[in-house]
Amino acid sequence: MNTPPSPRIAEPTQAALSDAAALIAAGKLVAFPTETVYGLGGDATSERAIAAIYAAKGRPQFNPLIVHIASLDGIEKLVTWNDRAQKLAARFWPGPLTLVLPRAPGSPVSLLASAGLETIAIRFPRHLIAQELIRRAGRPLAAPSANASGKLSPTQAAHVAESLGKKVDLILDGGTCEVGVESAVLDLSTDRATLLRPGGVTKEQIETLIGPVAESLHDETAPKSPGMLLSHYAPRLPVRLNATEAGETEALLAFGTDKNVKGGAFRINLSPKGNVIEAAANLFAMLRALDDPSFTGIAVMPIPMEGIGAAINDRLIRAAVDRE
Ligand code: TXA
Ligand code: MG
Repeated sequence: MNTPPSPRIAEPTQAALSDAAALIAAGKLVAFPTETVYGLGGDATSERAIAAIYAAKGRPQFNPLIVHIASLDGIEKLVTWNDRAQKLAARFWPGPLTLVLPRAPGSPVSLLASAGLETIAIRFPRHLIAQELIRRAGRPLAAPSANASGKLSPTQAAHVAESLGKKVDLILDGGTCEVGVESAVLDLSTDRATLLRPGGVTKEQIETLIGPVAESLHDETAPKSPGMLLSHYAPRLPVRLNATEAGETEALLAFGTDKNVKGGAFRINLSPKGNVIEAAANLFAMLRALDDPSFTGIAVMPIPMEGIGAAINDRLIRAAVDRE
């Protein structure tokens, strides 16, 4: 396997944060921790910085980016705000919920960042390093997950370095991400609120505030969220779901009690006590660890759909899609 040349990884000291903000102002890319996964950040108002993000990830330009903010001040200059957004923001921001809203007239957000759509996806992350970087940069940051397009999202600084190498100018190291799966993406741009991606805030939590939410997931023919194309989150090895036993050459990704599950050349457990929150935090790092050519595939035990389990199953289904 070819390891790309190493980028600079820095502890988030005052000096490193100043460097990071200066890099952003110069149109460069800085990877930073959020509570969900690491983001590959660039100036959301600069077409040049956005073009660099697409290039670094090898991401198709029809797939729009999330714009990250660190305050609600001035939000109405970016997007057309509404009552449902206000209710959800009051409860879940900062936190792992992304809201898709109409682009405000005269919004400074790069058109390329929203891939030419009339809407912008916006998120206020909870992680203090993310907030500090956005504040110091003095502008919203566009930040997709900091991985090569189609691969597993990074939950540690080292994952970013492995996946992007020198394509990122600086990585701020905030340790392991707490939530471990990406934010929920909720479309509030039409009358009917639609969940485009399950995530760290669940559909049920959203519904208690704004009533029934439609789902638009796994729609490959006409994706509303163009990033939700099925083949995504792809480890190199084939992934087999709902495994009740593992083959001799397979690696087993276990959940809960696994002593009755036979086989497997090697196994690790997402959460021996069967906790979905713990499992989400471990998901991408453990899939990476098992994605090794010494095995023939990864067998994954069933994960319950409760709470963040919906997001875990969503990512696993994508990881398991047949690839050519
Ligand atoms: O947790 C997260 O959301 C992480 C961290 C870094 O904040 N970011 C992340 O970004 O997961 P990314 O680019 O990997 O996923 C963004 C998703 C994609 O599925 C994209 O298609 C969708 O959001 N999206 C972005 N803008 C959209 C828009 N205007 N309308 C519909 N979907 C949009
Ligand atoms: Mg991503």
